[in-house]
Amino acid sequence: MRVGVLTGGGDCPGLNAVIRAVTLKGTGERGWDVVGFRDGWRGPLTGSMRPLGVDDVEPILTRGGTILGSSRTNPYADGGGAERILEVLAAEHVDALIAIGGEDTLGVAERLCREGVNVVGVPKTIDNDLGATDYTFGFDTAVHIATEAIDRLHTTAESHHRALVVEVMGRHAGWIALHSGMAGGASVILVPERPFSIEQVAGWVQSRFEREYAPIVVVAEGAQPADGAEVLQTGEKDAFGHVRLGGVGQWLADELARRTGKESRAVVLGHTQRGGTPTAYDRVLATRFGLHAVDAVADGDFGTMTALRGTDIVRVPLTEATAELKTVPAERYAEAEVFFG
Ligand code: F6P
Repeated sequence: MRVGVLTGGGDCPGLNAVIRAVTLKGTGERGWDVVGFRDGWRGPLTGSMRPLGVDDVEPILTRGGTILGSSRTNPYADGGGAERILEVLAAEHVDALIAIGGEDTLGVAERLCREGVNVVGVPKTIDNDLGATDYTFGFDTAVHIATEAIDRLHTTAESHHRALVVEVMGRHAGWIALHSGMAGGASVILVPERPFSIEQVAGWVQSRFEREYAPIVVVAEGAQPADGAEVLQTGEKDAFGHVRLGGVGQWLADELARRTGKESRAVVLGHTQRGGTPTAYDRVLATRFGLHAVDAVADGDFGTMTALRGTDIVRVPLTEATAELKTVPAERYAEAEVFFG
């Protein structure tokens, strides 16, 4: 049996831990040949791959990123489709694929499976917005990085009696903002799920200043003002045609300075949240997902994805995983709101 692994979409701490677990269990206990396809779906479209053995994966458990490379190539949108992938897999004698990715990568995996490709999915995203799993690996690491940044920003904000706005990742879901903001004792947390009133945010910031504390505002990159003010978002193009990373954070800092008369600064954490060593929690979760994905392939249980339910790893249909994004529910946001102002 020959099994291929690939990593698609934005990189995420813990990807290498999955690759390692799949390779060690696949080649060891199962006696398979394991190969890694390069750069997401581009690999099985072009046949770009490398063999994976013990020596390739033993040192990578703690390393961020992915040794296989990643891309957002979509075999349906970019050409080739299931037909081309089936051709490449047959030519390379690859019997099954383990696709590690987020919504887009797993959406493709689900469609390919319906069209005859043997695929098992493993969920990844720092945004934690994939349905059907309690947590994705990478999220815990991103929250730790953001929390550490917030801890550091408190002391500089206090020293200069300034407001600091911290923009974190999360275009569609505010999980990183919610968790890092709670862990870091933010004065306000803003998420895409709940359009905010700039007047109310300025009021909270002002009341924090009045109690002689420097306010920290944590804002997810996809958060929007409720009154429809023009705010450039991550992914949009600016006047120079450059794709933006960050936007709402700077807008908020400017508005808060104008409305409160206090100095404000914006910090965009950006890709630091995706880089570097995974936390112990993410290493364990990623490793367990990898081990269970091998079992799913061995059982021929294609079209499924490994998922965390409570403390158990289970298999769920890929259709369930990609059906809808997991956003922050109102009751979770209400818990954070208790501390605003
Ligand atoms: O999907 C994960 C994510 O980190 C988002 O939170 C962020 O908006 C996006 O990726 C950035 O993607 P890229 O690295 O392609 O700019």
